[in-house]
Amino acid sequence: HAPLRVALVGLGTVGGGVIRLLQTNGNLIARRAGRTIQVAAISARDRNKDRGVDLSPYEWVDDMTTLAAREDIDVVVELIGGADGPALTLARQCLAAGKPFVTANKAMLAHHGLDLAALAEKTGIALKYEAAVAGGIPVIKGLREGAAANEISRVYGILNGTCNYILTTMEKEGRGFDDVLKEAQELGYAEADPGFDIDGVDAAHKLTILASLAFGTELDFGNVAVTGIRDVIAADIAEAAALGYRIRLVGVAENGPDGLFQRVHPMLVPTDHPLAHVDGSLNAVVAEGNFVGRLFFQGRGAGEGPTASAVVADLIDVARDEYGDAFAMPVAALSLQKPADAGRR
Ligand code: HSE
Repeated sequence: HAPLRVALVGLGTVGGGVIRLLQTNGNLIARRAGRTIQVAAISARDRNKDRGVDLSPYEWVDDMTTLAAREDIDVVVELIGGADGPALTLARQCLAAGKPFVTANKAMLAHHGLDLAALAEKTGIALKYEAAVAGGIPVIKGLREGAAANEISRVYGILNGTCNYILTTMEKEGRGFDDVLKEAQELGYAEADPGFDIDGVDAAHKLTILASLAFGTELDFGNVAVTGIRDVIAADIAEAAALGYRIRLVGVAENGPDGLFQRVHPMLVPTDHPLAHVDGSLNAVVAEGNFVGRLFFQGRGAGEGPTASAVVADLIDVARDEYGDAFAMPVAALSLQKPADAGRR
């Protein structure tokens, strides 16, 4: 088979990770994918930045808007982020042109996922986004494929590695919020604007995607009730511990007779609940299905290696030509649920 030629757009933490991963595991990936996965072209804002990885083997592309039309590129990987702007332009161009598209961009999907999925459907190509939710945990595959036979009543979990790192490090090491946030940024966990992390917005983006997959409903980011962790202080954590709880930023989505109920806020988790033991940058997702029972997915939710691992898993699907609808079913078949009564919030 001919190699799968990849254009990689965005060379931050995750982009560098994808290159390193393909360099390190290229042979085994080629065996599993049935063909070599080869980075053919790269593009990013700043050509001269030192990314700690040798970029000389790859063609540098200044204008990423040329990629969608290039016949020598089989798939575009978008790792620049941002709900709108260049990422969205690129996604629309690629999907409209029938160029398979892999992204880690949860903000863009939460806002425009259905439009993009509809474009992908029209051209019959892949829109893949395993890396957009919970980093290295294969939770998109888990819900979209693994639990596909189930009616899911509830999906919830710890969806932001930065917040979890902050809360758990404050608790274990007695350190201050700002100090730990800075460290989370240095470790490559935080968003470019860490306000998205600590205000719960990033977790809400991810919850929106999970809810749509779990329930077969339209994405409904606008109706997620969101509170972040900015106001959590050391004394709250100590009080909670004295009562047998830990504080975690949890996202919960339920689909009941009242409608779709989605919220993200700091919660008191009893120490005997598995979520209380999800520490550091780990994420966890729990889904309850009517035949499978309770699924508990845990793993690293942020950072270079885990997120790159999810991106390359998507590339392997593209290389094998194994993909279906981007969400739970064709866009037209997704149900529009009225948001649950605000009184419940
Ligand atoms: N900033 C995100 C987090 C990265 O901390 O979870 C992974 O999406």
